[in-house]
Amino acid sequence: MIFFDDIQQKTIPAHIAIIMDGNGRWAQRQGKDRIYGHQQGVETVRKTIEACVDIGVKYLSLYAFSTENWNRDPDEVSALMELFMYFYYTETDNLHKNNICVKAIGNLDMLSDDCRNGMQNLIDKTKNNTALTVVIALSYGSRWEITHAAKQFASDINNKVIDINTIDETIFASYLQTNQLNIPDPDLLIRTSNEYRISNFLLWQIAYAELYFTDVLWPDFNKDELLKAIHDYQGRTRRFGKTNEQLIK
Ligand code: FPP
Repeated sequence: MIFFDDIQQKTIPAHIAIIMDGNGRWAQRQGKDRIYGHQQGVETVRKTIEACVDIGVKYLSLYAFSTENWNRDPDEVSALMELFMYFYYTETDNLHKNNICVKAIGNLDMLSDDCRNGMQNLIDKTKNNTALTVVIALSYGSRWEITHAAKQFASDINNKVIDINTIDETIFASYLQTNQLNIPDPDLLIRTSNEYRISNFLLWQIAYAELYFTDVLWPDFNKDELLKAIHDYQGRTRRFGKTNEQLIK
């Protein structure tokens, strides 16, 4: 078991992104409905936010609903939307009281007015908070985000807002939702439930993130598991394309 004291304070990842997977299997293993797993998943979200504040993580990105998740059974989709709204209504004051800022990425136009307005209220209320920024990826897909950025980018080239000869990675990245919301790239990406995929999450932004996979299902994820992931991350050498010798210099 990893304890808080085993974690080096100097190298705590500033931004942790999580693919919260395994709610359905967790529920089915107990003979319960998949929605029950998602409900427990919300509890884990609450506890993970608390754990990130305690540990000193500055950004936590949560993959709550992908562009592909719209293809699930309509009953599951509407139950998930209800759960998101439940989260906004029950957690807004609490998050604000704890100095937590909430941001959202994704194609929010796809959400119902109620769901979008609940989210917007949470974002507006918490926008000046500084302890931790929680980024909720809702109706999010990285290919959608990049395509959306490319459209705006092309339009700015067309309208001569930017000059094609000056384009570089930084300029293109400034069109991504994350950059427009001042969210840095993740340092550590965690995926639960023994699946080894990225599933269209932050593809551009995780170029140099460390990846951590665990077989724990999302409803069973907790602070101990988070500390384990951070401890593992701290044992890695982040070279960003350089050699070990270059890093020592
Ligand atoms: C994946 O498990 C999980 C989801 C599609 C939904 C994640 C949503 C939550 C944890 C709810 C709350 C989130 C917020 C931010 C309030 P799965 O259904 O694919 O599980 P399976 O792979 O076992 O079927």
